[in-house]
Amino acid sequence: MQATSPFPFANLSTELILLIFAHAARPTFVKTSDDASKNPYASALSLCHVSKIVRRTVLPELLRTILLPEYNNVTAFVRTLRMQQAFALEGNDLHFDYAGRVNRVWFGRICEPPPQAPVHSNFASSTTSELEADFSLLAPVLLSAPSLALDFESLWLLYGCLESAWSSCIHINDPERAPPPWRTNNLTLVGEFNRWRPLTSTTEGSAFLASISRLSFLSPTRAETHLLPTYDPCFDDLEHRQYPLPEWMTSVPWDSFKRLRTVSLVLPRIVLTVAAKTSLSEENVDVELLTLFDPPHSAYWDPKDISAYIESGEGLIVSVGVRTKLGNSPIQFSVSFDWEEAWACGLLK
Ligand SMILES: *[C@@H]1O[C@H](CO)[C@@H](O)[C@H](O)[C@H]1NC(C)=O
Ligand SMILES: *[C@@H]1O[C@H](CO)[C@@H](O)[C@H](O)[C@H]1NC(C)=O
Repeated sequence: MQATSPFPFANLSTELILLIFAHAARPTFVKTSDDASKNPYASALSLCHVSKIVRRTVLPELLRTILLPEYNNVTAFVRTLRMQQAFALEGNDLHFDYAGRVNRVWFGRICEPPPQAPVHSNFASSTTSELEADFSLLAPVLLSAPSLALDFESLWLLYGCLESAWSSCIHINDPERAPPPWRTNNLTLVGEFNRWRPLTSTTEGSAFLASISRLSFLSPTRAETHLLPTYDPCFDDLEHRQYPLPEWMTSVPWDSFKRLRTVSLVLPRIVLTVAAKTSLSEENVDVELLTLFDPPHSAYWDPKDISAYIESGEGLIVSVGVRTKLGNSPIQFSVSFDWEEAWACGLLK
């Protein structure tokens, strides 16, 4: 066998080399079973250490889709933004403006920290104040992304950013005429907890909902599962989708969404063609995503059977392969899904 000669990387033009670096820096969001905890940005992060020029080339790739699954990922991100703010002030050439580079942001289930006790604020955890003080840093980046996905439990982060962006823009502009301080068009909400009041009860929250054109629901995260080939009399109805849209859809404040063009949701009933639940540990399962092209416009709305939307052409169903996660209840057969991965890969827009 002939020894292959090393690839003459250095003979390529700088432009081509930088393109190769940018390509190599693209995050890999598909998890492999043996390496499920791998940081998707690992390649980009190590390339950032090569040189300032390489860093500048790969940062846009890293920033395009930002996944913040847990609280510590959010605080780490805020810390980076604070560092960038310092770089900007001192004119450091490591400064890179994140806002406008970010296309999509995903927040996992990030629960609001309990409020600090005023008397003992000196002893309060520093992470609490770290986030609180920094909505002004987070807001311009978060709200510059056209696509935002977050768990219902994480909505407090959105309120905080909206409030911060709105109050700073009111000082500058006439709020009636100025464009809103966000570019968010696509909003994806994850989880089961339908909570709208904090958004609908404020001016900025209402203005935000009014500007959304595409709304998606990845809920419930735990699907009702029907196993086959076990005999199940409900199966015919399920297969022909002769069951209504989920009840919680009537509690969405539809009249707040003034520019809504489509609404999508994962159908809550999923037919699994497996015989035994043991074979369902971690694999891709087809879930159905229903998109309605004529979303409801008023608060009073009577959902029809899913089949009726399909037949009339008001709705379309696509199947998406989503990885299942092991349920932790040994009694009830339940499956949960890795929506984060499917969303990051662009399967659930
Ligand atoms: C989130 O943080 C954890 C540990 O703090 C880290 O292992 C993981 O890679 C981070 N995830 C992302 C997407 O950055
Ligand atoms: C927003 O949704 C539209 C419609 O599905 C899609 O074409 C577009 O790529 C989405 N934008 C982003 C930034 O994901």
